[in-house]
Amino acid sequence: MKVVVAGTGYVGLITGVVLAYIGNKVTCVDVDDKKIDLLKKGISPIYEQDLDKYLQLAKDNITFTTDNSCYKDSDITIIGVGTPERPDGSANLDYVYEVCNDIIKYATKDLVVVIKSTVPIGTNDEIEEYFANKRKDIKITVASNPEFLSQGTAIHDTLYASRIIVGALDEKTFATMRKLYAPLTKEPYNVPYLEMNRRSAEMVKYASNDFLALKISYINEIANLCSKVGASIDDVTKGMSYDKRIGSLFLKAGIGYGGSCFPKDTKALHWLSKINDCELTLVKDCIEINKKQKLILFNKLKEDFNNCLKGLKVTILGLSFKPMTDDLREAPSLVNIDMLLDYNASITVYDKIALEKVKEIYKDKLNYALTIDDAIKDSDAVLIMTEWEEIKNYDPINYKKYMAKPNVYDGRNCHDPKIMKEKGINYYSIGR
Ligand code: UGA
Repeated sequence: MKVVVAGTGYVGLITGVVLAYIGNKVTCVDVDDKKIDLLKKGISPIYEQDLDKYLQLAKDNITFTTDNSCYKDSDITIIGVGTPERPDGSANLDYVYEVCNDIIKYATKDLVVVIKSTVPIGTNDEIEEYFANKRKDIKITVASNPEFLSQGTAIHDTLYASRIIVGALDEKTFATMRKLYAPLTKEPYNVPYLEMNRRSAEMVKYASNDFLALKISYINEIANLCSKVGASIDDVTKGMSYDKRIGSLFLKAGIGYGGSCFPKDTKALHWLSKINDCELTLVKDCIEINKKQKLILFNKLKEDFNNCLKGLKVTILGLSFKPMTDDLREAPSLVNIDMLLDYNASITVYDKIALEKVKEIYKDKLNYALTIDDAIKDSDAVLIMTEWEEIKNYDPINYKKYMAKPNVYDGRNCHDPKIMKEKGINYYSIGR
């Protein structure tokens, strides 16, 4: 089957590469010619584990272009462009509709358009109607096929997906989608495959992401309470996780969730619930809890230094919203940097991968270090924002050795409180 994938961000590019790897002829199209130029040379424009390897493995089946005429003879066009949040929290569908308009302009035969971008419930129906109104000569049907990959493990999450969800309204579209994904439902991948109507498929995506965000906010609140009542969140989550109904995943307390998905998808679902007069107050609280949690280290630092952070040498270790990515979207590090700048602290930052991206934003407002040792030298306080392995494995003795005052605020519980105490470090972490 001839597949076109619109958008070469995380979702589109990974989808294109995996579909090519399992044997489809895939064309990836994007408006960004810099990205396409890199991809044509076999270079990934994003930092993602295994992506370079799979780009190479799939190279005979995949092409990259900025030319929209590629839509003309596709059997399936997958839309994986961004749906950023609007100021009111709703999802902005402009990029999705831009692709739809290109399909309308160039398509020459019946095709299935697959919406992989995360879109509000009812969008797939609206898009199919939009096509029907603009192209009466051909039949363009729409399938909802939400994406569940996580950054950092995206290739694995697509090949060995937890599930493939397909929402459609007619048998022919279901049959096309079954054919597309057939290799992934067999050995060695054995991905569970579920069919449903389009609105349910759209809702699976939001309900899943928001549930995970709720789980994180819940455990963060429990952690905050643990530190008030002398319990340890490590032991508490361990104890909880033996109950199979609860499980151990997404129960890691910290300084809140970031990234391009949970913050946006919680706001979008909350917005949707409000306009449908059925407000999801749990999701509303989750958004608020996360906002507060992101500043928990900053507030503790402020309290410890009597609100006087002017000239204080603060080091931030870890900048990306989570390890194994250079993505800074909604990263807790950024709000903390902004607050510290407001208080005129002197800030040095370090991240294995995301340093250059932070430099592009803050330019000479920050100091940039190339090693952890250099980053913490003469520092009065270290704030840990991302649990990179390198930070988790950093020898605590060095905080004592290099810092002016060994004050470590750990937002990702990277170190053992007992060891930190033994080494004479003033250590604050989440819920312990
Ligand atoms: C998330 C979902 O996990 C994917 O299933 C989904 O497909 C994706 O969004 C999406 O909608 O595209 P991602 O944003 O890549 O994936 O990252 P996660 O690993 O889910 O982490 C999100 C945030 O939650 C990070 O800031 C992470 O540090 C935080 N987190 C995660 C915690 O604070 N505690 C945890 O226990 C787990």
